[in-house]
Amino acid sequence: MIIAIDGPAASGKGTLARRLAAHYGLNHLDTGLTYRAVAAALLEKGLPLDDEETAARVAGEVDLGALDREALSLHEVGEAASKIAVMGKVRTALVKAQQRFAHRDPGAVLDGRDIGTVVCPDADAKLFVEASAEVRARRRTDEMAGRGKPADYAEVLADLERRDARDRARAVAPLKKAEDAHLLDTSDLDIETAFRKAVELIDRVRNAN
Ligand code: CDP
Ligand code: CDP
Repeated sequence: MIIAIDGPAASGKGTLARRLAAHYGLNHLDTGLTYRAVAAALLEKGLPLDDEETAARVAGEVDLGALDREALSLHEVGEAASKIAVMGKVRTALVKAQQRFAHRDPGAVLDGRDIGTVVCPDADAKLFVEASAEVRARRRTDEMAGRGKPADYAEVLADLERRDARDRARAVAPLKKAEDAHLLDTSDLDIETAFRKAVELIDRVRNAN
């Protein structure tokens, strides 16, 4: 079984994907971390963020088993990730690794921007997670504060909106809902309620198939 979860930044897709993977006994991959890993490696080595060949070479070396969420969570890394994510050759390299991960037994939940459209178009269930920009910025601000890295709400909001705009506008694999994905708006839902709704949707789709 493969479950595809897409949505804009801080919509709650990662939290949901993790819980769904535990619930169904599946592997989980946050594909955003793979883009972040490429960006972090370039930043660390002082390599340019605008050279597709270099970024693609680094993307070919990303080890999915060694993705460190904490180290990759930096705001600068997310911003740089969305810049290298517009490059077709970077995406080709990462998508290949993501697809290999998805097809490992016993199956997987993947979350990102293009899982339902590009990485796993044949997924057994697809969700597109949404929430208003204000709610998402509030959640991300609270999350940063909880980690002891307080951030300014207005800056977080501007950052999310800039990144979303770049992700939606790019030519290759833009952020968009797959036609057969189910929309889950979590603006007014807590994590538990969002999870229960997702399970309901997924079980309904599975039973129908
Ligand atoms: O956690 P957050 O939603 O802030 O971002 P992320 O999922 O870690 O993704 C960071 C950036 O990677 C996004 O802004 C996208 O530009 C890019 N990305 C992508 O292009 N395709 C994916 N499947 C996942 C992430
Ligand atoms: O993966 P993505 O960037 O879409 O978001 P996330 O990391 O799952 O969630 C961002 C923050 O919002 C986390 O701190 C979650 O605990 C919180 N959240 C929430 O408050 N309510 C939800 N329904 C979903 C997530």
